[in-house]
Amino acid sequence: MKVLVINGPNIARLDIRDSAVYGDLNYQQLKDFVISAGKELGIDVDMRQSDEEAEIIHWLHEAADSALPVIINPAAFTHYSYAIRDAAELVKSPLIEVHLSNPLSREEFRHTSVISGVANGTIGGFGPDSYRLALIALASRIKG
Ligand code: DQA
Repeated sequence: MKVLVINGPNIARLDIRDSAVYGDLNYQQLKDFVISAGKELGIDVDMRQSDEEAEIIHWLHEAADSALPVIINPAAFTHYSYAIRDAAELVKSPLIEVHLSNPLSREEFRHTSVISGVANGTIGGFGPDSYRLALIALASRIKG
């Protein structure tokens, strides 16, 4: 099983973001962690990151066209991108929203997700394990 893991803006700069919020892994280490968590579950992870809304939308179109399950950390786009929401809605395979931090325990503008309503579920607050938990949920959704 192949899964597309999409990361939004600034996730590639975990090396300089607040480690008290986002943890100690840099993006490459996060990517290695997610790929190896996928391997343990028999999932082939294709993990990508973009700072650009249009590129993320095109990747969601690709997932819709190829019937690929998606794990997405839309980063700040979570809170306001109706364009990413509309593209996520086109994905008919399972789509799970993830966050490294728990946005609900942070500033008020992070309490709104315009993506959650079109996701099968949302996992946040567990650092890299948020992605691993999403992979586990996907594995059982797709096999079960
Ligand atoms: C984030 C949470 C968002 O509020 C923030 O804008 C991010 C990362 C997370 O993974 O915790 O960039 O999606």
